[in-house]
Order: sequence, then C-alpha cells, then structure tokens
Amino acid sequence: MITVERLNTRAEGVGGGVSVARALPGEVVEGTPEGGRIAQPKILTPAPERVAAPCRHYKACGGCALQHASDAFVETWKTDVVRQAMAAQGIDAPIRGIHTSPPRSRRRAVLGGRRLKSGALVGFHARASDSVTAIPDCLLLDPALIAAIPALEALVAEGGSRKGEMRLAVTLFEQGIEVSVTEGKPLDKALSLSLPQIAGQFGLARLAWNGEVLLQEEPPVLRMGRARVSPPPGAFLQATPQGEAALLNCVTEAVGDAKQVVDLFAGAGTFTLPLAERAEIHAVEGYAPMLAAMDRGWRNAQGLKRVTSEARDLFRRPLMPDELKRFDAVVIDPPRAGAEAQVAELAKAAVPVIAHVSCNPVTFARDAKTLIAAGYRLDWVQVVDQFRWSAHVELAARFSRPHMG
Ligand SMILES: C[S@@+](CC[C@H](N)C(=O)[O-])C[C@H]1O[C@@H](n2cnc3c(N)ncnc32)[C@H](O)[C@@H]1O
Repeated sequence: MITVERLNTRAEGVGGGVSVARALPGEVVEGTPEGGRIAQPKILTPAPERVAAPCRHYKACGGCALQHASDAFVETWKTDVVRQAMAAQGIDAPIRGIHTSPPRSRRRAVLGGRRLKSGALVGFHARASDSVTAIPDCLLLDPALIAAIPALEALVAEGGSRKGEMRLAVTLFEQGIEVSVTEGKPLDKALSLSLPQIAGQFGLARLAWNGEVLLQEEPPVLRMGRARVSPPPGAFLQATPQGEAALLNCVTEAVGDAKQVVDLFAGAGTFTLPLAERAEIHAVEGYAPMLAAMDRGWRNAQGLKRVTSEARDLFRRPLMPDELKRFDAVVIDPPRAGAEAQVAELAKAAVPVIAHVSCNPVTFARDAKTLIAAGYRLDWVQVVDQFRWSAHVELAARFSRPHMG
C-alpha cells in the first residue's frame, strides 16, 4: 500500500519512491511497481477531488492526463506548478489566477495515424503505449477537427506505410482544416495524384505532405487583430482561440501605452498584429516564412501602425542592448527551452516593460531570476491553461523597472 504525496511533472501520483498512474495526492493505492511505476493501481481510498472522467475515451487514450481530477484540483495544481517553479528560483510574485480553455476548443493538434490491413486508425497515442487509439468523441478537440477524422483516415490508408506511424498536424482555419503530414510514405507520382484528390473529396482547406503543399484552393487564413494571416503549413499557432485571447489580453495590458514595441519569437504575428493597432512593432522570429505570412497580413489590413520584421536566431544572435534601447516595451514568447541568451541581453538593456509569455514555468522562472537580479520587478503572473486535462502549464507575466515606469 502506498499513499500518494504529490503529482510529478507528468501529473502522475508520487509516493513511497514510485510513480502511480492517474492517482491523486492523499489517495491510498495498491499495485505492483514495475520500473519504479505502478501502471494499474487499485485506488483503495479515493481523494475527495477524484471525479468520474467526463470523456469515454479516457481509460484507453493517452491524450489527457487529469480527467480523473476535479477542475478545481487541476486549476490549483497548475497554479502551484508555476508558484513552485518560481519559489525554486527564490521568486515570490503575485499570481492573478488561471484561465482555462473550455472543452472542445483545441483548434490544432498532432494526431498519430496507422495504416491497418484494411483502412486506417487515427487518434491520440494510447496510454503509456505507442499504439494509436480512436477518439471519435474526444472532449479536447474542436468538433470540426473530429469531423475531419474520416479524411485523415483516408489519407493514412492511402499514404501510410504498414510499418511506421504517421504524424498528422491538423489546424482549423476560417476556410476549414489544414492537414500537414510528416512521416508519410515518400511522394511518388501515384500519391501526388491520389492524395490531393482525397483531400479535395473531403473538402480540406490545405494538405501538406512531408513539407510539400499538395492541395490549397486558396491560402487558409486566421484572424489576428484586424489582419488575416495565412501561416505556412504546420506552423506554430496558439492551441485554442480562448487561450490566445487570454494571452493577448495579458500582453496588451502589460505593454500598456508603449509606442515602440519589439515582439521576440513573434511567430506569424499573434501578438504583433493586434498590438499594431496602437504601437509600432518590430517582430523578430527564427522561421522566415512565418514573418512573410505576417507581413502579407499586415499589408492587406487597414489602419495598422508600422510593422517591421527580422528573421533571426535569437538563441545564437539575441538582440543586443544597443538594438533594444529604442523600444519602450518588449514582448517575448520563447519555445520551451526559454530565452536564456536573449534575457541576458535584456537584463543589460533598460527597456521599461517586458511582457513575457511562456509554455514552460521552469525556464520562465530561470529567466525571470535573471531579470529580477538586473532590477526588474515581476508585477504579476497569469496562468493560462490551453492544454486542459494535460500536465502542460503556460503563463503570461509582466516585468517592469520601478524607477523607469
Ligand atoms: C511559443 S512560439 C510563439 C509564437 C508567437 N508569439 C505566437 O504566439 O504565435 C515560439 C516561436 O519561437 C520561434 N523560435 C524557436 N526557436 C527560435 C530561435 N532560436 N530564434 C528565433 N525564433 C525561434 C518559433 O518558430 C515560434 O514561432
């Protein structure tokens, strides 16, 4: 018998030196550990926070990790993940709360696809396994993505190999669904004809296969503020419209009435273009095709202030203090690794305000410590949960230099 003490970073229970799948703190469980983990625990004393999973796929599917816990528990746990990551760096800052995206709101996801003897299977990975499990009633995905599963299955049946698994990144645009396939069979003449035909039959907005666009009636677009942007296939976008709006609200509030803003790790302009309604923005991003998409969106939009852009690897060539000094606010939204090199330069510059968005509380806290040591105050942190029922945690925060406003 083991009493679960806490959850680990994968949201598994931990107690008595082993991890316990889908167990909550305070629960007494029984089971045989294998490799330091109890995969099928018997819950002897359930925690008051335990609930019946709302999704019928939860038992088999590995797409969610926390459906056995109440919403209130998940919110508190995710907020504590941020608090503890900051505490580990000696930071105690106000956390304003958590914004959680509703069920069925994911507009993008990466699904697995396997060709079967007849037909195909598309879905999330099964629990603790590399097999794929079907998810026709998934509570995470926007219903339009679920409705596209037959199209995905048809593509996998045609272009998947019997050996490996295909990766299908699906995104919901205004015009419909984009499917960006990687690890499909190499394109030959027959597939170059049949795959776009299938995509056309199912009314997909765009199909990209191993990076090559095979079908696109018109460039699929998303609204970013007043602009409409058509990002390159498979490009980064925030996972839910509600999460994006929550992050954008935080960023907008944080930069306030700054007139010259630099947006670092800008993507295709999620923050740049809405902010351009009130400030001039310089957008910096490593992947040039995203900036090209942003630029086209900006040129075709009415009433936006000037937006300039620069393709640059911010890990190797961060913006230096003399390049930063003309700005009165910074927006920074790095990948999971954080922005150590760029933050080291920000610490030497004196930009009055930094709006920091992060998808990794641990690297955020590391970088926040550098900024605080350089004289910034961490004004507030807002936790944003776009990956409902997962172990993933995101946040937005505001830093300011008290003596500079
Ligand atoms: C978390 S996304 C944020 C994108 C954008 N702010 C948004 O909300 O849509 C991080 C971005 O950093 C870019 N990126 C990753 N590594 C980079 C690097 N070394 N230098 C510059 N940009 C990088 C990615 O292409 C991606 O667009």
